[in-house]
Amino acid sequence: MHSEPSADPIDELTAANIADWVDGYTMLSEIALAFTIEQTLAAAERHPGSAIVECGVWRGGCSTAMLLAQRAAFGRVVSPVWMLDSFEGLPPADDPDGPLAKTWQADTESPGHYDNCAASLAEVQAGLDRFGFKDGDVVLVPGWFSETVSETAARLEEGGIALLRLDGDWYESTKTCLAGLEPHVKNEGVVLIDDYYAWDGCARAVHEYLATNDLAYRIRSMPDFSGAYIEKRAARTDPDRV
Ligand SMILES: C[S@@+](CC[C@H](N)C(=O)[O-])C[C@H]1O[C@@H](n2cnc3c(N)ncnc32)[C@H](O)[C@@H]1O
Repeated sequence: MHSEPSADPIDELTAANIADWVDGYTMLSEIALAFTIEQTLAAAERHPGSAIVECGVWRGGCSTAMLLAQRAAFGRVVSPVWMLDSFEGLPPADDPDGPLAKTWQADTESPGHYDNCAASLAEVQAGLDRFGFKDGDVVLVPGWFSETVSETAARLEEGGIALLRLDGDWYESTKTCLAGLEPHVKNEGVVLIDDYYAWDGCARAVHEYLATNDLAYRIRSMPDFSGAYIEKRAARTDPDRV
């Protein structure tokens, strides 16, 4: 049995090393990566053993940073990181994703196209293998969200989710992951929404989910507006806390 984990703060050098190790494996900005690490450690401390789930991992750099940060702060991976992806890139953008999404996807020559965000399972596994994580620290879930999310939700029902990170870009992808996984996020858990500002479809899916389920969660902006997040609280009960 382990005692309750408490995170040692990560010093600047360790944070810089993590950012270096995942350079080229993630599209996150430096600020977004630092924020994600901070949220990961707080989530793992709050709900040790509950999963950290990233939906849309591309080359796996952000998930890897969430693992490395735990190792640096706790001496081990306290909350396993689940990585869901098609490992074939994005599905086609659809009308709710907006005109910019369709134009971006059609422009295959643009440097920001990243081959439609495709990275293979073997490539992601090789990236993880650099760090020798233990069995159970990482769970790879290949396949389209529409085919993997319900089974993943069932597997996570008991332990719950400490932090859910949504980075599937499009309306349908975000909607599927929110509907299937958000109910398993622990109270006081966090949902990071990478594409809230980037793509209309993601914002649509978030607003729709909150409205349909009558949820009063506040949508907060990441420090550099590179994404949004929700701190899950059923109701505001503390007058001194917003
Ligand atoms: C922008 S990339 C993710 C970036 C990554 N989190 C990072 O750290 O840079 C979007 C990812 O979502 C995945 N994706 C989007 N929609 C999906 C779906 N419906 N099913 C499975 N994977 C999906 C794509 O394969 C791609 O790897």
